[in-house]
Amino acid sequence: MAILINNANEVLTLASEVKLPRRREQMSELGLKKEVSILIEGDRIAMIAPLEEIKNEFPHLVNNADVIDARGKIVMPGLVDCHTHLVHGGTREHELNMRLAGKSYMDIMNAGGGIHYTTTKTREASFDELYDKTYEHLNNFLRHGITTVEAKSGYGLDMETELKQLYVTKKIQENHQVDVVSTFMGAHAVPKEYKGNEDEFVKIIIEQMIPKVAELGLAEFNDVFCEKGVFTPAQSRLILEAGKAYGLTPKIHADEIEPYEGAELAAEVGAISAEHLLVASDEGIAAMAKAGTIAVLLPGTAFFLRAPYARGRLMVDSGVPVAISTDFNPGSSPTISLPFIQNLACMNMGMTMEEVLCATTINAAHAINRADNVGTLEKGKLADVLILDVPNYKQLQYFYGMNHTDTVIKAGKVVVKGGSLL
Ligand code: NIG
Ligand code: FE
Repeated sequence: MAILINNANEVLTLASEVKLPRRREQMSELGLKKEVSILIEGDRIAMIAPLEEIKNEFPHLVNNADVIDARGKIVMPGLVDCHTHLVHGGTREHELNMRLAGKSYMDIMNAGGGIHYTTTKTREASFDELYDKTYEHLNNFLRHGITTVEAKSGYGLDMETELKQLYVTKKIQENHQVDVVSTFMGAHAVPKEYKGNEDEFVKIIIEQMIPKVAELGLAEFNDVFCEKGVFTPAQSRLILEAGKAYGLTPKIHADEIEPYEGAELAAEVGAISAEHLLVASDEGIAAMAKAGTIAVLLPGTAFFLRAPYARGRLMVDSGVPVAISTDFNPGSSPTISLPFIQNLACMNMGMTMEEVLCATTINAAHAINRADNVGTLEKGKLADVLILDVPNYKQLQYFYGMNHTDTVIKAGKVVVKGGSLL
């Protein structure tokens, strides 16, 4: 099985000598090539070069390849969405009017709505209901050019339902074309049953849930919502350190609503990434730059909660490696459109059109430990390839709010053609 993509107007390989998460001007290296073809063999990229060179090197493969004509279009790596709350029951459109009328996200949550509402719906949902719903969401991701998705648990908040969510993630990893990377987030909220007894719940996470999740091999990462009224920095530190002891890499929802020194904590515990950071302090940003902590920025959340945006420009200029993601979840960011999120990052966080492409491919891959395999178009990497129906990459942000995805190749198989799932 071979595929040959010819005649693209632009091929953005995102390839670079830099193998670490990219910072500052490294984030603008698109590896843009013109007049090259891409040869895919099996699930891997075999060669990116002018067609004549590919023919000389692989005459037999070229003769037998399925040829895709990308004339007038651009080619780039499949998008990586490195922060989602993919598996959940129900929807929360009723909260939108409450928020439009002035109620805050935290008011709604403290009154038993928000994450608590979704927790109830997730506890009530059967495994199959959750699986089918998640499968549909992933189809939608794929139609928008996303080929790798991180998925957090955290709508169970008890052992049984957290494991149910993680097993849904596991089954979906096995069956859906999109690659799914699993994060345990038992510390997403303090369940109503433990209100006033928060430390007891922290103890359950540390002594029961983390060991079980690790033993069953159901997650690679361990995340915590460090926020006033949710988990304190001290509790968050205990939870993240406990995860580390069981081989789970720390991530942290930090400084989303009120400054809480979450960015500082991420740097201190050696988290791979700190996420949100809408109100991260100058000191926190400097600490992340020093430690090399990746900032996963989620401008869809600022948009949907009508909150101030994270200081993406400052973070890039300060040397923090920045990734961007949807935060897809039923409360603060119910969208799978990473292309729209790229646009928000340009318009509202002052990031450039080049930086947002890096932030949603290779830097996002770094944030979930997948940079060796995806995030760039390079010989030997997984053939996750997008063909977008625009003549140059700048039109991706110019013609905003639209889905430009024409073709998606996932691990060497065409899975979206002419914008439709096959
Ligand atoms: O990343 N901040 C916490 N968690 C999610 C929202 C979850 C929800 O509202 O259901 C977030 O924004
Ligand atoms: Fe989140």
